[in-house]
Amino acid sequence: MVKFLIAPSLLSADFARLGEEAQAVIDAGADMLHLDVMDNHYVPNLTVGPLVCEALRKYGIKVPIDVHLMVKPVDSMIVDFANAGATNITFHPEASLHVDRSLSLIRQHHCKAGLALNPATTLNCLEYVMDKIDLVLVMSVNPGFGGQSFINSSLDKISKLRQLIDASGKEIMLAVDGGVKTDNIAQIAKAGADMFIAGSAIYNQPDYAEVIRNMRKQLASVR
Ligand code: DX5
Ligand code: ZN
Repeated sequence: MVKFLIAPSLLSADFARLGEEAQAVIDAGADMLHLDVMDNHYVPNLTVGPLVCEALRKYGIKVPIDVHLMVKPVDSMIVDFANAGATNITFHPEASLHVDRSLSLIRQHHCKAGLALNPATTLNCLEYVMDKIDLVLVMSVNPGFGGQSFINSSLDKISKLRQLIDASGKEIMLAVDGGVKTDNIAQIAKAGADMFIAGSAIYNQPDYAEVIRNMRKQLASVR
């Protein structure tokens, strides 16, 4: 039985009450937290830096923090987020001049290393770094904003990536980020995803536990 992971994205949380909002989704049954880091350079939006990750740890957040770097360049942020308590650090290959080096840097700092693939980015960039990756994050929207619609061609990419991962025999998580909702999560899981990042679908509802319960109900029908 595959373990499916649900990672709410804090991007849609109430930032004035970030600690409470993080704890609320954990209490509601989330497996981890997803933290979107944007620099108004690699993406046209600006969010938070390592201080906020550290503040969440100081607040008492114990679950894994999945840091999604949408910044360019990436290397100094990798070090800063590792020191701030990140568990996974994922970056976009287009944002690093030396992808292999950046991936190694993440593991050197005892975090799990991930690559995030934009909707138009092919799977080719994974070919020579499969042994340095713990996670591949398929972006099913263009990075930068919450609340966008799921791009359907991502399903085909997810299936191909699932085959690639299975053929490699490595333990690599397949995460999907953007437009994940209760009504498409089963389809995304069927295509081969095992980690589901959802911001607006969870935080824009009054009862977080109900959404996560419904997502798990949908996932239970898969595989
Ligand atoms: C977009 C971010 C996503 C975003 C997802 O750049 O990477 O994590 O928060 O938000 P929803 O689930 O609302 O599409
Ligand atoms: Zn994200």
